[in-house]
This record gives sequence, C-alpha cells and structure tokens, in this order.
Amino acid sequence: MPKFSRQFSSLPPYALADVPKIKAELIGQGVDVIDLGAGDADQMPPPQTIAAIQQAVTEERMSRYPFQRGLPEFRVKIAEWMKRRFGIEPDPFEEVLPLIGTKEGIAHLPLLYVDPGDAAIIPDPGYYPYFGGTHMLGADVVQVPLRREKSYLLDWNEVPKSKLKKAKLLYLNYPNNPTGGVATDEYYQEAIEFCRQHDLLLINDNAYSEIAFDGYRPPSVLQGEGARDVAVEYHSLSKTFNMTGWRIGWVVGQKEAVQALTKVKVYYDTGVFLACQAAGVASLEAWAEFVPKQIAIFQERRDAAVEAFREAGFDVDVPKATLYLWIPIPSGEPSVDFARRILLESGVVLFPGTGMGKGGEGFIRVALTVPAERLREAARRVAEVL
Ligand SMILES: Cc1ncc(COP(=O)(O)O)c(C=O)c1O
Repeated sequence: MPKFSRQFSSLPPYALADVPKIKAELIGQGVDVIDLGAGDADQMPPPQTIAAIQQAVTEERMSRYPFQRGLPEFRVKIAEWMKRRFGIEPDPFEEVLPLIGTKEGIAHLPLLYVDPGDAAIIPDPGYYPYFGGTHMLGADVVQVPLRREKSYLLDWNEVPKSKLKKAKLLYLNYPNNPTGGVATDEYYQEAIEFCRQHDLLLINDNAYSEIAFDGYRPPSVLQGEGARDVAVEYHSLSKTFNMTGWRIGWVVGQKEAVQALTKVKVYYDTGVFLACQAAGVASLEAWAEFVPKQIAIFQERRDAAVEAFREAGFDVDVPKATLYLWIPIPSGEPSVDFARRILLESGVVLFPGTGMGKGGEGFIRVALTVPAERLREAARRVAEVL
C-alpha cells in the first residue's frame, strides 16, 4: 500500500477515540451510562418538518440529483429568514448556498483560498473542520487561544505579525462551541475592519444562533457595516431544529466566496437531498413557534446543570448560548485523563477540552443533551468520584 500523505499523517488523533468502546463495555456490565459528550440533543425536529419529508419522499422529482442549485424554495426561505431574523437581505441565488451540514461547507471553503504555506487563523479550542480543512491543504494553521479572562473572544492581536502577512482566512465561531462565549456587534465590527485591513476572509460559524438564553439574541456578523464585502457566515438546522442527522445548513455572505464554493463543490458532491431541503423549508416556517420551546428546554437544563456542577465543587460560568457548559478541571489533571477516569468510575461521559485543540487543556465540556434530572444525577456521580 502507498504511504499516507504528510498532511493526513499529521492529523492529531481523536481525543475520544476509545470512548465508544469503553461506553459499550460499561453498558455491557450493566452500568447506566450518562453521555454528555457530543452536542447531539435527545429531542425531535418540528412535526411540520417530519410531515414535509414524508410527503417529499413520495414525489419523483425529489429523488433526483439536487446539484448545487437545489430546491429554489429552500434558498428563498433562507433569504427570507435571514431578513426576518437579522434584517439582512442576501440574494438567494448568488449569496446563499445550501450545504450538506455546515461542517462540510466549512471544511471545503479553504480549497478556494489556501495554497501550501498560506496561513489560516482559527480559534483554539475550536470546532474540528477549521483545523482539518486548512491543515489538509498544507496551511500554516495559526491557533489563537480563547481565554476565559477575555470572555473567550479571539484576540487577533495575538496573531504574530509574520503569520498575519501570510494569512488569508480568519475563523470565528460565536456563540462559541465549546466555551459558550458570545460576540457583540462591536466585536464583529472590529473583526470586519481587521479583515479588511489585512485582506482576510472573515468566516463566522453561527450554528448556535438560535440556542440562546435569558432573552439574549445572538447577532450575525453580516449585520456589520461592510460585512458583505469580507465575510461569510454559516448557519445550520442541526441544533435549532434537532436535525443533526439530517445534514443540512447553508453559507451566506460575500458573493465571490459563495460562488466559488458552489463551483468547487461540483467536484466533491451533488448537493443536499431535495426532500431534506423541502423539510428545511418547513423547519424555517416553524421557526417562530418552535424555537422558544427549544430555548425553554435547554435553559431549564442549563440552569439545572450549572447549579448541580457548582454543588459538585466546580467553578461554572453561566453560558448565554449554546448547548454546553465549559468547566475548568479543579484537580489540574489533563483533560483526557480526567474524562477517562470519570467515565470509568462514574459512567458519565464528559468531553475533554483538548478534544478541540490544545487550548482546551484544563477544561471539560458538558453537553445539555439529556433531561435536567439526568444532568443532576451526572453531577452527583462526578462529585462522588472527586
Ligand atoms: C461550532 C459548530 N459549527 C457547526 C456544527 C455542525 O453543524 P452541522 O451539523 O450543520 O454540520 C457544530 C456541531 O457540533 C458546531 O459545534
């Protein structure tokens, strides 16, 4: 067999690689495992969404190749939703592109810009495709730490000048996975200015825009002045509508970037299943009615988990958005060791911070993906181990 490529061989190992095996063994021994690892909630999509896909799969036209243009109604619905939610009016056919989940689109975007040796600036910790998509192309990936004392806002002043010269992309992700950090309009405006000044494409991952608490409504970077000249933003139906497995999202913003991604994806895939796009239309139509219920569920869980993990002795910040608590490990143990010990001794799966980059060392992430009572039970068990 040929040797694997340098870029593939230098991908870091997956921090949770042995968790499914340990979990299966524990379940086999009769342990009641509570999995707070992945951001994959235990809820159903809106009933209208399910009805829409049931109908769509009976239509012959929905079984055809979608191609990148896809279902025009979905593009139009996305543009309408962007207007309703953020007050911006993208052209549905020029400035919007449906994706097979945002992860796919995030990972493919660097193909448009990165030659070996170019740099890309990403948050650390950060969602995997920021690293994977740029690293695989031979980019110099500049991982900027997200610091608690800076409210987890990526500070581009921490990028060394020498790297900045070679940089083409700046990734932001607010509301942030895993830290729960959120961005203000002012922060986004500064990011826009910075990217304009240094000729960078600003990429904001807004997958958690709708999962926000206490009345807080996360903004879009595209609301900023001049944003549409320098920025694209990713949106997903995964978290908003409990559709993680359906694989559907979109990118919106800077026209040449969206057009170029459309072109490059012709070489990689043939678009999002049309019936799923029809379901996406139904989800966006259900948005105003559905999202408050989602928020109520996750806010109750957040409050229960914050209280329970505080009682268990952890120093927990209250996140304004996302599905996660991001908690410092009190013992100072490496996060992978801590998460493994907790799993083996208590049957609770926690996500080790380094699973999303070395900047996550010293933290664990708790996903609010099970009912409040299970979150309390998990915290009790963790407390016992400690
Ligand atoms: C920051 C962030 N962006 C995007 C996604 C994934 O979205 P999708 O399911 O649309 O690929 C996730 C999922 O965990 C995420 O945490």
